[in-house]
Parts: sequence; structure tokens; C-alpha cells
Amino acid sequence: MNIKHKVYTLKNFGDDRGSLIPIEEGNNVKFKVKRVFYIYGTSNNVRRGIHANKDSQFLMVVISGSCKVLVDDGFKREVIELNQPNQALYLDKMVWKEMYDFSKNAILLVISNQKYNENEYIRDYDEFVRMVMKKKEIANQH
Ligand code: TYD
Repeated sequence: MNIKHKVYTLKNFGDDRGSLIPIEEGNNVKFKVKRVFYIYGTSNNVRRGIHANKDSQFLMVVISGSCKVLVDDGFKREVIELNQPNQALYLDKMVWKEMYDFSKNAILLVISNQKYNENEYIRDYDEFVRMVMKKKEIANQH
């Protein structure tokens, strides 16, 4: 199992009136929720993200439509397609992410444990890999 990201199913409390999915701190989201943003109206040829975060963890849910998310922990990359509103992708800090192949109606909801802070963004992939390697080296010394 990859500890840096995880896809899981959110419980749907729907009934004959339709669906209802709560996202609640301490329940189906483990971190302290400090920020919510959503991305929509994205052209199919657009690639977003393309960065890693030193501190932010994320929970991503495509509440309408679909998109793909490339996740890379510096060692391994994986592409995850999000196409169900009850499907959540958790991303730990220090994960390189790229979101692409947005469907026309895609709404990507993102929840984070950090407020927006440009200083914690790593936008250079080589720098990201160098930081991951350095962290590993330090961990191996202990
Ligand atoms: P950007 O970093 O390009 O988003 P993406 O995750 O797709 O790479 O952000 C676009 C703009 O929005 C940029 O000026 C910063 C601003 N922004 C905020 O003010 N708060 C936020 O939570 C986010 C994600 C972005």
C-alpha cells in the first residue's frame, strides 16, 4: 500500500430523494480542515497542479464529471482517474501532483489542512526529487 496517497470510498447517506455525502473532520477526513477550494470550467487540454507541497495534505473529490490525477512521491508515479462523486483521493504532503483530462462538466473539490501559502509550493520537479532524497538520507541516518 502506498502511504503517500490513498483512494477511498465516501459513505453515501442517500435515500430515495437522492445522494448526500458528508465530509467531516475526524470522521472521513483525518486532518484539520483549514481550506476548501474547487476547480471547474477547465478545458480538456489544461494541466493543473504540477507541484508538490511541503506542508499541505489534500483530499480531492471530483463531485461532477471526471479528471485524472498523476501522483508521484519521488520514487513511483501513478495515475488515478476520479470519476465518481463518492470517490476520494487523499494526498499526503510532499507528493507531486498533476491534474488533467478534465471532462467538460468536471468540478474538482479540494480540501486541505493548510491555508494557501505560496512559500510551501515546490514547482520544480528536480528540486522536489532532491528534497525527497535528502529526507530519505536523513531518515536512514537515524
Ligand atoms: P495555482 O497554484 O495555479 O493552482 P493549481 O493548484 O491549479 O496549480 O493557483 C492559481 C491562483 O489561485 C494563484 O494566483 C494562487 C491562487 N490560489 C489561492 O489564492 N488560494 C488557493 O487555495 C489556491 C489553490 C490558489
